[in-house]
Amino acid sequence: MDVLIIGSGGREYSIGYALSKDENVDKIYFAPGNGATDELGENVNIKDYNELAEFAKDNGVDLTVVGPEAPLVDGVVDIFKEKGLTIFGPTQAAAQLEGSKVFMKNCLKKYGVPTARYIETDSLEEAEEFINTLSEPIVVKADGLCAGKGVIIAQSKQEAVDAVKGMLSGESFGDAGAKVVVEEYLDGYELSIFAVCDGKDYVVLPAAQDHKRLMDNDEGPNTGGMGAYVPTPLVNDELYQKVEDRVIKPTLKGLEADGMPYTGVLFIGIMVVNGEPYVLEYNVRFGDPECEELMVLFESSVADMLYKAATGNLKNAEVKFKENTYAVGVVLASKNYPYSSSEPAEIIVDEIVHEDLKNNSYIAYAGVSKDEDGKLLATGGRVLVCVGLGNSIREARDRAYMLAGQVHFAGKKCRMDIAYQALRD
Ligand SMILES: Nc1ncnc2c1ncn2[C@@H]1O[C@H](COP(=O)(O)OP(=O)(O)O)[C@@H](O)[C@H]1O
Ligand SMILES: [Mg+2]
Repeated sequence: MDVLIIGSGGREYSIGYALSKDENVDKIYFAPGNGATDELGENVNIKDYNELAEFAKDNGVDLTVVGPEAPLVDGVVDIFKEKGLTIFGPTQAAAQLEGSKVFMKNCLKKYGVPTARYIETDSLEEAEEFINTLSEPIVVKADGLCAGKGVIIAQSKQEAVDAVKGMLSGESFGDAGAKVVVEEYLDGYELSIFAVCDGKDYVVLPAAQDHKRLMDNDEGPNTGGMGAYVPTPLVNDELYQKVEDRVIKPTLKGLEADGMPYTGVLFIGIMVVNGEPYVLEYNVRFGDPECEELMVLFESSVADMLYKAATGNLKNAEVKFKENTYAVGVVLASKNYPYSSSEPAEIIVDEIVHEDLKNNSYIAYAGVSKDEDGKLLATGGRVLVCVGLGNSIREARDRAYMLAGQVHFAGKKCRMDIAYQALRD
């Protein structure tokens, strides 16, 4: 089949990378893609979703996969479906799970899914009243999409009230802050669990752990994610079962009953408190950088799974993972990330002579472009992810860092402690 991948980051590169090795896949298009995805397929520079759907039709694209949340929240799936195209991702209605934290929290409450106690409001007074019933720290969230910056963990009640004020006034996040969620703080450890869904049925993928903070020991500002590893030993069968029974099943059932059956990846942000899973949030797409590790762990065809999910036929998909295999991804970011943009810098990748490394690692390119001479440039943000595979997390981690040592660009930086939670004694 021919596949169109919407997006331009490391996540989309990694999906393309997996599909490029998939015997079910012939041609891959990326819209818009980046300076490295053109090695895996063809970059298509069409921004308008109607035009893109026409392109898919004209070129006989069999399956479109949407990487990032913005096109989903904007309704790209509805546009493609109206034209009779097969597309993997939730409709605009279902994508509100990520587009609006108020919508998401209200769904969780309605469907009886465990989550932090909260209120949603557009009134400062109401927020203040609730804040006074909580003990610190207190969590304040802007309703809309804020590129991962819309959550404040306030250390005092005053700070929480100020955060609400900043959001409701439009000062902090514009329209995205017109409503807020105020909730209790959950103290535990975080996991990312992904369920591929076809509206009714689902497949749970191995759980991942991301590293949001810029610096080692989870210090410094939040980022889009500095590295991840899969699967994490912080989940056991009992916890998976709880997540299926208390989170995934009631959510899919509830959404279906409410007329928005969920197709696509349901990304469940979980806080485990005393062995019990609580939903922090839903996202409606693969995590980035979790996707970069997940994509190389499939034994079975990724294209087949995505196609069957998109066509409501997931129960006939055989989804298998490589046995006894772990993946660790280390993000190499540019100098000024996440504060400001950085000067473009040439990327040099050494020839990898070590067979072990060559066969058990890859680079997922994200913030890269090509100059006129075809040189690969780091163009800022998260530039690429070095992914290592191995029969233990330690082995996978060592390979990821070995690969990271063979990639060079001015200002390159990374965390040195990815997967530490799985490796400490
Ligand atoms: N109720 C909570 N208790 C403790 N930490 C929280 C809570 N809600 C969010 N967080 C922290 O804030 C981060 C961002 O919140 P999240 O709801 O995932 O929003 P987003 O990813 O849209 O910024 C989470 O990954 C988690 O570390
Ligand atoms: Mg999150």
